[in-house]
Amino acid sequence: MKILVTGGAGFIGSNFIYYMLENRPDYDIVCLDKLTYAGNLKTLSEAIQNPKFKFVKGDIADREFVDNLFSQEIFDKVVNFAAESHVDRSIESPGIFLQTNIMGTASLLDACRKHSVSRYHQVSTDEVYGDLPLDRTDLFFTEETPIHTSSPYSASKASADLLTLAYFRTYNLPVTISRCSNNYGPYHFPEKLIPLIISRALNNESIPVYGNGLNVRDWLYVEDHCKAIAMILENGREGEVYNIGGHNEKTNIDVVKTVLSILGKPESLITYVKDRAGHDLRYAIDPAKIHSELGWLPETTFEDGIEKTIKWYLDNKEWWQDIINGEYRNYYEKMYGNR
Ligand code: NAD
Ligand code: TYD
Repeated sequence: MKILVTGGAGFIGSNFIYYMLENRPDYDIVCLDKLTYAGNLKTLSEAIQNPKFKFVKGDIADREFVDNLFSQEIFDKVVNFAAESHVDRSIESPGIFLQTNIMGTASLLDACRKHSVSRYHQVSTDEVYGDLPLDRTDLFFTEETPIHTSSPYSASKASADLLTLAYFRTYNLPVTISRCSNNYGPYHFPEKLIPLIISRALNNESIPVYGNGLNVRDWLYVEDHCKAIAMILENGREGEVYNIGGHNEKTNIDVVKTVLSILGKPESLITYVKDRAGHDLRYAIDPAKIHSELGWLPETTFEDGIEKTIKWYLDNKEWWQDIINGEYRNYYEKMYGNR
C-alpha cells in the first residue's frame, strides 16, 4: 500500500504521518508539501530516517508537477491535508486560500482520476457548516447540516468538498471526506489559539482574546483525528462524509484560563482585543455516524490532551521558538499591533 499525504509538514499531516508509520508499518508514505510558512521540515526529521517514508517538495496546485509525481510513484490512496488553514490570514488575504484549497484540490482530483487511484480522502473541517447559536446547546453539526460558510477559509474548504463530491457523482472517483472540529497537540503552529497561549504565556506575554471570549470550540486531540482518518481510509464508504469530534465544547476564555493555570501563569496576562470579523459563535460536532459505522471514539480527554500538549511545548521549546523568532514576528505585529 503506497499513500500520498499532502501537507504532511504541517500540524495534522505530520501527526498523521507519525501515526501511520507506527500503526501501519507496512505502508509506504510519500509526503508532498510546498513548505509554506506553516510547513516545517524539522517536524519530519524523525520520519525522514524511516525507509518507508519519502518527502517531496511541491505545490498541489501545480498540475504538471502533480501529474509527473503520480506517474512516477503509482499511489494506491491519497490523503489531502495541504491547505491554507488560518481564518485570520484568510480575512487578510483570501486569494491564496482559493488557489491552494480549491485549485489545489481540483488538481489532485484530476490526477487521481487519470492515474486510477483507489481512494481520495479530503481532510475538511466543521467550519463548512458555519456556526451554531450559543444558547442552543441542544444543536450539533451532523453530516446533513447545510453548508453555510462564514470566512474565506471555510468557503474555500466548502468549495473543495463540493468538488470532491462532484467527482464522485460525475466520474465515480472513489472519494471520502472527513469534517473535524478544532484539533490541538504537538507541532501546532503558534498562530492558532492553544499554541499561541502556551508560547506567549511561557514568555510572560499578553494573551489576546477576541471579543468577549465566549465563543465555543469543540476540541479534539490530534491523534484521535489521525486515527479516525486511518479508519475512514480503510473502511469508510465511498462518496460519504464523516464528522469527527469528541463532544469537548469549551469557551475560549475557559481554554485560556486552563492553560494559564497548568503553567502557573497569572490571569492578568489575558487581554481582550477587537473581535475577529465574522467570528463564528459555536462549533459542536455530532460524531454518531463515524461511531456507529466505523466504531471510532476519541481516546484522549481534554484534561489529558492539554497536559500532554503543554508538556510537548515545554520539551520542544526550540521547535516553536525558531518559529516565533522568525517571520512570525512581523505577522504578529501586523495582526495584533493595533488591535
Ligand atoms: P497547517 O497550516 O498546520 O499545515 C498545512 C500544510 O500544508 C503545511 O505544511 C503547508 O506547507 C502545506 N501546504 C500549504 N499549501 C500547500 C500547497 N499549495 N501545496 C502543498 N502543500 C501546501 O494546517 P493543519 O492545521 O495541519 O490542517 C491540515 C488540514 O486539516 C487542512 O486541510 C485543514 O483545513 C484541516 N483541518 C484543520 C483543523 C485544525 O484544527 N487545525 C481542523 C479540521 C480540519
Ligand atoms: P483558531 O485557533 O484560529 O481556530 P478557528 O478559528 O479555526 O476555530 O481560533 C480558535 C478560537 O480562538 C476562535 O474562536 C478565535 C479565538 N482566538 C482568540 O481569541 N485569540 C487569538 O489570538 C486567536 C488566534 C484565536
